[in-house]
Amino acid sequence: TSKLSTVKLQEMKRDRQKVVMLTAYDYPTARAAEEGDVDVILVGDSLGMVVLGYDSTLPVTMEDMIHHTKAVTRGAKSTMIVTDLPFLSYHISTPEAVRNAGRLIQEGGADAVKIEGGREILEQVQAIVRAGIPVCGHIGLQPQMVNQLGGYKVQGKDFEGAKKIFEDALLLQEAGCFALVLECVPTPLAALISERLTIPTIGIGAGDGCDGQVLVVHDMLGITDRYLPKFAKKYGELGDAMLNSVSQFAQEVRESKFPEAQHGFKMADDVLERLVE
Ligand code: KIV
Ligand code: NA
Repeated sequence: TSKLSTVKLQEMKRDRQKVVMLTAYDYPTARAAEEGDVDVILVGDSLGMVVLGYDSTLPVTMEDMIHHTKAVTRGAKSTMIVTDLPFLSYHISTPEAVRNAGRLIQEGGADAVKIEGGREILEQVQAIVRAGIPVCGHIGLQPQMVNQLGGYKVQGKDFEGAKKIFEDALLLQEAGCFALVLECVPTPLAALISERLTIPTIGIGAGDGCDGQVLVVHDMLGITDRYLPKFAKKYGELGDAMLNSVSQFAQEVRESKFPEAQHGFKMADDVLERLVE
């Protein structure tokens, strides 16, 4: 299979073919995503929480995103890779936003970038698109805004909130986004936006009316100690499997049950005899 293009993604929407997006942050998760046949890999700044152990995405740097994108590209050579622009990498100025988006492509090896925000960041979106870099939007719950939102909550439940998200979706499409992530918005609002846009919507906690779905790979594999929102369906319990394996190893070493003969290397008897002469 060959890499999806942003043009193909629009065709998939027209053909009502669902878009499968999953996060990955390193070589093994990228390989699992590619071999498991996802359409698009997202190197999300959720990296900060599920891989680096921070309690929000705010501490994640451009260097972190580039470093992990490089690992992902080595594990998934035929899958489209989208990398998040991290906190404060696009708010200072439009030239800085273009430079940072460019670094994710040139140094990281990503195919496209994702950026959080609506009407406030249209200028940056337009400038990045003009530079030839495909941009995926991200509205609804914007985790980089957590300190202003007062927590990770559903967005757009009241008229004003819903209106802002609806308008932002149209503005981002107009600004040139090739796709739009909708995070934590009511199912009917996400369905309406998906119906009105020509670019695919990719939902997370946004219901079944979206054109595609995305999950955080550590959440869906069950490798996380963080509180899981109700939309994060668990497809595995790998965290438990990891813990069981580690404690079994520790116990076997302490009880001298590991290693066994088959885990070691042999040597000719006479070599040892000459050593102890
Ligand atoms: O960082 C991330 O993983 C994301 C997805 C949740 C959309 O932005
Ligand atoms: Na993100």
